[in-house]
Amino acid sequence: MQSSPTADERARVLADGKTIPTIGLGVWQVPNGPECVNAVRWALDAGYRHIDTAQAYGNEESVGRALRESAVPREEVFLTTKFHPTRPDPAAELEKSLRRLGVEHVDLYIIHWPAKGPTWAWPGMEEAQRRGHARSIGVSNFSVAELEQLLALGGAPPTVNQVQFSPFEYRRGLLDACARHAVTLEAYSPLGTGRHLGEATVAAIAARAGRTPAQVLVRWCIQRGTVVIPKSTHRERIEANVQVFDFTLSDTDMTALDALDRSGGTQQAREGKWWR
Ligand code: A2P
Repeated sequence: MQSSPTADERARVLADGKTIPTIGLGVWQVPNGPECVNAVRWALDAGYRHIDTAQAYGNEESVGRALRESAVPREEVFLTTKFHPTRPDPAAELEKSLRRLGVEHVDLYIIHWPAKGPTWAWPGMEEAQRRGHARSIGVSNFSVAELEQLLALGGAPPTVNQVQFSPFEYRRGLLDACARHAVTLEAYSPLGTGRHLGEATVAAIAARAGRTPAQVLVRWCIQRGTVVIPKSTHRERIEANVQVFDFTLSDTDMTALDALDRSGGTQQAREGKWWR
């Protein structure tokens, strides 16, 4: 099992018992300011209850502002931010994030990438959780080998591994290892940052289903058992991208999408690493 499904596939249960909404709005590359505030506000209006930001995105203030201005109560929203791992102290950096976000805690705090190795930051992540500033803790961009080094520490296990994941980057080796270790895989760039939307197989399946290519790609992630965070700053797209719980891709369609994989079923989180 990738993670326990709830009765309703709109949420999944993490290994630490916390519930995470299956679809979140990703705000990577959305500048701090009105564009980000609007995107988050529209997402909340459209029923999203999960927002995914990061210290490196520079837009935590806008995410916080949208949350405050929304009629949706804070406790109904699952909020993620990520530790910028070129900095030394995860617990101290989360305190700064909380001030920027204007919240008392985040629901999930993850190491953004395994800079300088996969283990050194983990005690600081656990400290952030001990202080009550993060309900759950996890990682991002960790390969199987890096995940297993972290698990070997014997501390709190990471609840999630957020990685680039789509039919074209179907990291089956990594997905299977996450499932074995009860780590929920979160799919970022599920639309290939837009590049996968025009691909012929995706387009044909979408046309047959009477859906958009984006809905097909998000739905594929859900049926592969992941959490998924499509990004958009357009209201109609934000609204449409979450309308994926009223149809199912057939086994034939899933197999056709699986075959688009260019990762070779890899255990790696990235083909090109931007860190050392
Ligand atoms: P925009 O933000 O202008 O709407 P990913 O989630 O893989 O990172 O992909 C995000 C990219 O896909 C963004 O460039 C976004 O553009 C675009 N996008 C998101 N949803 C849709 C959609 N429903 N239709 C077309 N493009 C979309």
